[in-house]
Amino acid sequence: MRIFIVINPGLEDLASEEIKEKCPLAEFETVKGGILAEVDHQWIFNAHKLLKIPTRILLRITEFKVRDFPKLLNKLSALKWNEFLSHPEPEFEISASKSRLLHTGRIEEIARLAVSLHLEKQPLSLDWQKKNYSPQTFYIRLNDDLLTLSVDLSGEALYKRGLGIIKGEAPLRETIASALIFDIFQGIKQEITLFDPMCGSGTFLYEAQDFYLAGKRTFSFSENPLFKGKHYPVPKLDKKLPIKEMIGHEINEALVAKLNFPFIKTHDSLLADYQINSPSIIICNPPYGERIKIQGKRGHFLKDTLEHLFTLKPSRLGWLVPTDMEEIFKAPASYRLLGKRRFRNGGLAVSFMTWEKITE
Ligand SMILES: C[S@@+](CC[C@H](N)C(=O)[O-])C[C@H]1O[C@@H](n2cnc3c(N)ncnc32)[C@H](O)[C@@H]1O
Repeated sequence: MRIFIVINPGLEDLASEEIKEKCPLAEFETVKGGILAEVDHQWIFNAHKLLKIPTRILLRITEFKVRDFPKLLNKLSALKWNEFLSHPEPEFEISASKSRLLHTGRIEEIARLAVSLHLEKQPLSLDWQKKNYSPQTFYIRLNDDLLTLSVDLSGEALYKRGLGIIKGEAPLRETIASALIFDIFQGIKQEITLFDPMCGSGTFLYEAQDFYLAGKRTFSFSENPLFKGKHYPVPKLDKKLPIKEMIGHEINEALVAKLNFPFIKTHDSLLADYQINSPSIIICNPPYGERIKIQGKRGHFLKDTLEHLFTLKPSRLGWLVPTDMEEIFKAPASYRLLGKRRFRNGGLAVSFMTWEKITE
């Protein structure tokens, strides 16, 4: 099966490293915003359970050149929809560019007509009614008159882990938090204290805790006829991140009380009344003064916060901030810049800057 793994642009290299480690593939191709690969059923099952960085996985159904609507209807109604359709009223996400057919509304009408013509001849099994299946989403992409039809295998986006954890203000997507955790732990062998000084709902911490554990939620592919009768044992990785203890500080007392996580405490991280056991990694997604108000000018607040965090002498420090502010952040001479990764978080251009303590 040919699949496309959707990845937040800017995190593709981390996602491909994660695949190599958890669900190796003989070959795959990394492109902007995703990874293309040929896989089998079991790989799809394992990847959904184990990978923490991808947003969703799509299965490619067909690809063909098309420049007129009659041909589009012919081609789509010739497909054996029964083989991959689990619900009679699927959703469609359509995009078209640099093509003769650009009217996405009309393309959708034709796709729906093709499905209903097929179902008149080959009705669907009634599993969808009996088992209350959800409609699948099909992706139709037209570029340079080349149409690609794919079906979503994940269902809800994969950053929804299904754990029902309460969210603070401006929470980070779980897929992004996992990617940044994986990034900052690259090459770390000794057990460390992981500290998030402004942890909100603790996304970094519980993503670090679960990085090598299989997820618990269900996925759309389990309702897809292509996967009918296929059952696999839940994969297990005999590995964990080298974390000795985890600590989260959060100033919002009401949020901490609701979360009720033993490793998250109500604390103002800017106070000089605490220390962190060494060696440590600090990872921080501070408030930017947009969705969450901060006192004084945001530049001053963020500079002071970073300066304070370096006084805790972490082995590494990861700092997620708006890209347009990158230049104002400097580390003490005892640290070197390890990396600077740029991507978009909720529409905002951000940079994840990492520093490492220089050892003699
Ligand atoms: C952008 S949010 C972090 C979101 C978090 N990464 C998540 O996924 O939920 C920043 C958090 O810092 C907290 N905060 C602001 N000033 C703080 C301080 N001085 N000490 C501790 N927490 C603080 C805010 O209440 C807010 O929850």
